[in-house]
Amino acid sequence: MKPMKICILSSEIMPYAKTGGLADVAGALIGELKARGHDVRGFMPLYRGVRDREPSMRALAELTDVGLRLGDTSYLYSVLAGNFPGTGATMYFIDCPALYDRPGFYTSDADEHRRFILFTRAALETCRRIGFGPDVFHCNDWHTGFLPLYLKTIYSGEALFERSRSLMTIHNIGYQGVMSAAALDDLGVDGIRPLIDPEDLSAGVVNALRTGLKYADVVSTVSPTYAREICATELGMGMQATLLARGEPVIGILNGVDYREWDPRHDPHLGAHFDPRDLAGKRENKRTLLGDAGLTVDPSRPLIGMVSRLAEQKGFDLLMQVLPRCLAEHDCAFVALGSGEPRYAEFLEGLVRRFPGRAAFSGRHDEAMAHLIEAGSDAFLMPSRYEPCGLNQIYSLRYGTIPIVRNTGGLADSVRHFDPGTGEGTGCVFNDYDTAAVNWAIGTTLSWYADAPLWDRLVQNAMAQDFSWSRQVAEYEALYRRESDLAAVSSSA
Ligand code: ADP
Ligand code: GLC
Repeated sequence: MKPMKICILSSEIMPYAKTGGLADVAGALIGELKARGHDVRGFMPLYRGVRDREPSMRALAELTDVGLRLGDTSYLYSVLAGNFPGTGATMYFIDCPALYDRPGFYTSDADEHRRFILFTRAALETCRRIGFGPDVFHCNDWHTGFLPLYLKTIYSGEALFERSRSLMTIHNIGYQGVMSAAALDDLGVDGIRPLIDPEDLSAGVVNALRTGLKYADVVSTVSPTYAREICATELGMGMQATLLARGEPVIGILNGVDYREWDPRHDPHLGAHFDPRDLAGKRENKRTLLGDAGLTVDPSRPLIGMVSRLAEQKGFDLLMQVLPRCLAEHDCAFVALGSGEPRYAEFLEGLVRRFPGRAAFSGRHDEAMAHLIEAGSDAFLMPSRYEPCGLNQIYSLRYGTIPIVRNTGGLADSVRHFDPGTGEGTGCVFNDYDTAAVNWAIGTTLSWYADAPLWDRLVQNAMAQDFSWSRQVAEYEALYRRESDLAAVSSSA
């Protein structure tokens, strides 16, 4: 198969910067596509601290102190190249201290939009100056939303990009990059007003994601069910008409997981390893987790785990009502790891005070703890209001930790409700977004746990699932190839 040239732009990429699943997915795609022989180039902003993680980083002479004017401000940026670990794919880090040398990857500063406008422009400029004309620019989420528009305006006469197509992947339609219409000046495109959504403009805003969805050659998202939901229901969060106007379906490709990182047979974060034939290591991880989290319940009691951004999307408004009742009624324990909105952290801290020794919470970002919760818990709770894909429920399956999930998005596409009659299924799936449904799901899962042979069957089913990237990445390859064939046809016509 002929190798393709692929640019992947993402605001976060593992192992350099991560706040959520986007980083895992972008990193895995870069590695997997390179391993399949493609010429893959990854792009990310050089946030504070990232340079220390990449010893191979080197300056590019043709991209040192490049000037770029955004509105009334002139910026200088440089581009540093590095080797993506293990694969040799090239990473380009956009170095602009005025914009990226800040305490967090994301900010609520007034120039937040400029941080990603510059990132996008700099990625295109890097390709141009090094003479790299990709078959596909793979853009991810709102941060990269202006790239398709740039390709069709500022860079439309660039011979190098004549056959380059753009793919916009939606990882979460809840984050759209809505900015004041004043940002139009920062985009640097002549005659831009008629190109921007008129309703947004009359509301005084520009929407980066909507612009990407309008101008990208193809749009995808991270599960087939979410692809349908965002076009046809309120989960499109105001983007339904924009998606329908494209006249072709949004493609849903379920995320894979990197089993080099997330497999209990060899997970480097675990003190004890295990596989479906011998679960002694899982029990040992449970004891370690109970000890580390300060939980004093008997290890035979069921332990429910969570690793999650503390955001409304993840179902915390329901959990604020459900968890106190669950701990009061059931002889079980609960452990959560996550950071985000203070109101949810306060709730979890309160839960720990109310149920000492039975509920634990850590508000850090802690990679090792995330792995230990996957390995040491019996069930994993993910009652999301919406979930484009979700990775933790897929990790949970591999660790024999039974996912309790709502029937939405990627949760619906990765977990099948267990039927004790037939012994088929991999988790507990509930439909309605309400407290009764979550209560039911937790109660049902705990009743299965009480029946050891039944639980063992469920654990075996879960651990047998395979969501490796080697399968899913072929779907991206087919999509890129389709686009590059279409480009070949249109440029020879
Ligand atoms: P989302 O991207 O919406 O947050 P996903 O399930 O796709 O949800 O991915 C979340 C990723 O972030 C997982 O790899 C999970 O382990 C990780 N994660 C979330 N919170 C933390 C945390 N506090 N510490 C370590 N890892 C975390
Ligand atoms: C987003 C979504 C999550 C998805 C991840 C990676 O953060 O919320 O469901 O798994 O992106 O695609």
